[in-house]
Amino acid sequence: MKFPVKIFLIVLPLYMTVVSYVYIWTFLLCLESLKGVRVLVTGASTGIGEQVAYHYARLGAQIVITARRAHALNKVAKKCQDLGAQKILYIPADMASPAEANRVVEDAEEQLEGLDYIVLNHIGPSPYRMWDGDVDHMRWLMQVNFHSYVQMTQKALPALEKSMGSIVVVSSLIGKLCSPYALPYIATKFAVNGFFGSLQHELAMKQSNVSVSVCILGFIDTDSSMEKTKPYPAREAAWQVVKAGALRQSEVFYPWYTYYCTLIRDWFPYFRDLRSVTSYRD
Ligand SMILES: NC(=O)c1ccc[n+]([C@@H]2O[C@H](COP(=O)([O-])OP(=O)(O)OC[C@H]3O[C@@H](n4cnc5c(N)ncnc54)[C@H](OP(=O)(O)O)[C@@H]3O)[C@@H](O)[C@H]2O)c1
Repeated sequence: MKFPVKIFLIVLPLYMTVVSYVYIWTFLLCLESLKGVRVLVTGASTGIGEQVAYHYARLGAQIVITARRAHALNKVAKKCQDLGAQKILYIPADMASPAEANRVVEDAEEQLEGLDYIVLNHIGPSPYRMWDGDVDHMRWLMQVNFHSYVQMTQKALPALEKSMGSIVVVSSLIGKLCSPYALPYIATKFAVNGFFGSLQHELAMKQSNVSVSVCILGFIDTDSSMEKTKPYPAREAAWQVVKAGALRQSEVFYPWYTYYCTLIRDWFPYFRDLRSVTSYRD
């Protein structure tokens, strides 16, 4: 074997070991630092948001959860308590109302005496079918899935700036790929990705203390999942969301293939578009 090849074979595994070691330690330290952190999780009455709340509870965080259904939030809150949350409160609120979005952040900040993480996760229900031209539904969904995220961010930024906190945004692969049957939902997720991806730049330019993590998820096994073929577990998706915030990662992808989908989406546009045209039968 030639000398440079030998050196490469020794140095590469060594390098990989050191990098993995540093990554694992950084991660463990970050997890440890989540004990007692003040977190607001939206859309936490079910699905991924519920699982995010449980992860934070296991890590001993102080949590405020929100969604519309008080009885469902109450159940989640009780489980968070059992799992070890330092503090758990719930605020029933409808994000279709701009005033409610502001109130939730204000109340959470007051109850927790500040804020370290805000996890924006809620989505309003939207039918999985061809767009029927319903502009009112589009407008309503924009308020719930996008404008309320912007509002809550604006309201929470001063507190997050103080605490060197994080905004964690739960988004979707179909907020990056155009696709049929869920136009209003897709439009809101494109807006979310565009806004928060750009906010990352502006905060960096201002040397802000606040990090923004955008979590791009594929099909996850929650009640509202639009694809029932091979969904990935909500608990694992939620863990990726918690990890992204703790490590202040700008963008994370789950499951792994979503990253490659965004990379190659424009390589073969003809075949990409052919699939949706041929899949529609009226
Ligand atoms: N599941 C998937 O396959 C998948 C894939 C990619 C990305 N994601 C993303 O993951 C996140 C969570 O999705 P999920 O599947 O867990 O959704 P989900 O199971 O439908 O949960 C949605 C949550 O939002 C709340 N909500 C609905 N309308 C609301 C309103 N008007 N005001 C306040 N809260 C409202 C719901 O609670 P109430 O009904 O009690 O209000 C619920 O807690 C979303 O951002 C979604 O885009 C999901």
